[in-house]
Amino acid sequence: MTEKQTWSQRFESALHPAIARFNASINFDIELIEYDITGSQAHAKMLAHTGIISPEEGEKLVTGLEQIRQEYRQGQFQPGIDAEDVHFAVEKRLTEIVGDVGKKLHTARSRNDQVGTDTRLYLRDQIRQIQQQLRDFQTVLVDIAEKNIETLIPGYTHLQRAQPVSLAHHLLAYFQMAQRDWERLGDVYKRVNVSPLGCGALAGTTFPIDRHYTAGLLHFEGIYANSLDGVSDRDFAIEFLCAASLIMVHLSRLSEEVILWASEEFRFVTLKDSCATGSSIMPQKKNPDVPELVRGKTGRVFGHLQAMLVIMKGLPLAYNKDLQEDKEGLFDSVNTVKACLEAMTILLAEGLEFRTQRLAQAVTEDFANATDVADYLAARGVPFREAYNLVGQVVKTSIAAGKLLKDLTLDEWQKLHPAFDADIYEAISPRQVVAARNSYGGTGFTQVKQAVLAARTQIST
Ligand code: ARG
Repeated sequence: MTEKQTWSQRFESALHPAIARFNASINFDIELIEYDITGSQAHAKMLAHTGIISPEEGEKLVTGLEQIRQEYRQGQFQPGIDAEDVHFAVEKRLTEIVGDVGKKLHTARSRNDQVGTDTRLYLRDQIRQIQQQLRDFQTVLVDIAEKNIETLIPGYTHLQRAQPVSLAHHLLAYFQMAQRDWERLGDVYKRVNVSPLGCGALAGTTFPIDRHYTAGLLHFEGIYANSLDGVSDRDFAIEFLCAASLIMVHLSRLSEEVILWASEEFRFVTLKDSCATGSSIMPQKKNPDVPELVRGKTGRVFGHLQAMLVIMKGLPLAYNKDLQEDKEGLFDSVNTVKACLEAMTILLAEGLEFRTQRLAQAVTEDFANATDVADYLAARGVPFREAYNLVGQVVKTSIAAGKLLKDLTLDEWQKLHPAFDADIYEAISPRQVVAARNSYGGTGFTQVKQAVLAARTQIST
């Protein structure tokens, strides 16, 4: 028989053991313990501050709670399933430590505003950590970009060679995505950083509490204006899961590119041994497990977002036990995003080598300079569409002849159009093709140099 629960005076008998297990959240909400303690300390201080309990009682509660924190950190406090959840576990242990005064802690509070407070304190910390990881990821991207402003790589649309670009330009695209992710988390943070503490079970409390006081102690920017909303709002978690999903989208896209680049078909990068694995049967294999796992793990974060949306959509006000389901997906998303950011940052910093010779060759072996021929004519007064059609013809006949545009003789060029001159060869060289795209935000070297500088400034503030 399980022990009777904290709420069990109203009940004749204890929970069925299987139902106790089913109901319990301690296995996963133990993750919140330090935030639970911090939140309870603020609550206890407020109770003393407002005269609801005496200053000595407040002091005892705060000290007792601190002892639990130490016990937990030293591995001495490991509450089991009979505690039901982390909130009961801490309260029970507190009463063992400080005696009957421990039973005063829950005055003017409910587990509903308590768990909401804990979750927000947890997420606040995690958001700051993930933002720092995004900064580390961005730093590595700029470091590589800075060294590769003049390294060219084929640029694609429809996964067909389109126009060559600076490798730095390509990597800085991911920098920009990460920058939006960083900013988005900052926006989410504002709505996470609101205190529900003092909303009580759903309707507020009969005690003369001071919600601003606890909010101040816990460094919340504001407090929920409506108690029903305060205990049952999980928008902040959904917003975080959206932001987390977008981070995963971006990491997954980069992963996909690295996987392609590492293939025999592309051969744009070599994976270093520290970040690649072998096959158990094919001795020649070197597999891109890191980006594959990142791409694969993306699905679970999307799943947690979907789950949270579904959990919320039918919930009547105010608290419902469904809300206990908010935690595992949230924790898993946080852990997944952190693990993926760490792995991708390491992969970029030390697990990848761009094969610069192969890249240099790749940008000369196709018709990715065809637009530049059309632009060449257009700049000399030929209407662009006319020039475009003419170049289309040249590409067709060149393919048939097994030639590239650079292989045409000046005579051949001039037969096509008298506007062609000897400078056509320079105009269609890969370097010039890239350098010439000097419009703002384009891949021209002058633009990319500025973009690298701007990126450095962005992450230094
Ligand atoms: N373990 C619960 C949760 O995570 C705590 C709140 C319980 N509240 C209640 N009214 N049963 O949501």
